[in-house]
Amino acid sequence: MRSFLGRDILTLRDFSREEFFRVFEVANDLRRYAVNRRNTDLLKNKTLLTAFYQPSTRTRLSTEAAMHRLGGAVLGFSDAKMTRAGDFYQESIKDTVLMLESYGDVIAMRHFQEGAPAEAAKWASVPVINCGDGWGQHPTQVLTDLYTILLERGTLDGLTYLLIGDMRMRTMHSILHALSQFDAEAIVISPPDMALKPEFKAELDGMGTVYREAPDVREVIGEADVIYLEPVVQADYTQSRVERGTEVGRTPPELQVTGELLRTRARRSSIVLHSLPRMDELLPDVDETRHQRYWVEASNGVSLRMALLALVLGAAE
Ligand code: CP
Repeated sequence: MRSFLGRDILTLRDFSREEFFRVFEVANDLRRYAVNRRNTDLLKNKTLLTAFYQPSTRTRLSTEAAMHRLGGAVLGFSDAKMTRAGDFYQESIKDTVLMLESYGDVIAMRHFQEGAPAEAAKWASVPVINCGDGWGQHPTQVLTDLYTILLERGTLDGLTYLLIGDMRMRTMHSILHALSQFDAEAIVISPPDMALKPEFKAELDGMGTVYREAPDVREVIGEADVIYLEPVVQADYTQSRVERGTEVGRTPPELQVTGELLRTRARRSSIVLHSLPRMDELLPDVDETRHQRYWVEASNGVSLRMALLALVLGAAE
């Protein structure tokens, strides 16, 4: 297994099965701090720098919470407009990162441009963690999702994963990469204009990810162990900021999960995950069902990101 020390976390495409389980093992070790709301001093001499060019609630705050739990310092920006990268100068990733690397020991970056964290990693002498790049990848979210499934179901193998939503989304790319390392079958449902792209399908075929496409959640939900949703009504991830207009589309029933659908057609043991925020693909009546796991999923993001920070900064082997 490759060492995590000093490593950039940019994609799950190159994660081995062993590496997934190493991250989950460290998350299990550190989880008690997050669960008991206690801090340790494992990273007391280290500083996390968060460079968020796109809005975030969960990813930025859970990454920052993780560093606080580990006893490290945190600084950064959550609105690039307040930096030279977002004003008249539009300072480049290279010029920005060559400053940031002096101010912290690890950089957590979200960007509206696919590949921006990889570009940052080219210039930074400290590890860069991709916290979501355009339509590209969202590795820390999907590590959190898989960790949640492992905690809730006790395994990642032998499960059927029902993926519903816009298949161009970064979480969908990352989870389909990750599933290549497990004995898993994915069933994929999206509107036709948001379907898996041919070049991405070719990549998945090359990696050995097992998946098939289906037209309607109502027809296949009974096969699923994990029901994994993303919006089909959403912001354009390639822009820095988009205000929500008055015209917001509605999710059609073939892509919607409701309490009624779960009660009548889902396996009793199936769990529902959503990286959030949600629109109307996941109705609030699911919150009270036995299947709902998205709140604990968001909470597990702290332990999982503690593990990543500890690994890339050498506090865990
Ligand atoms: N899951 C996720 O990426 O949420 P945020 O956009 O709030 O970080």
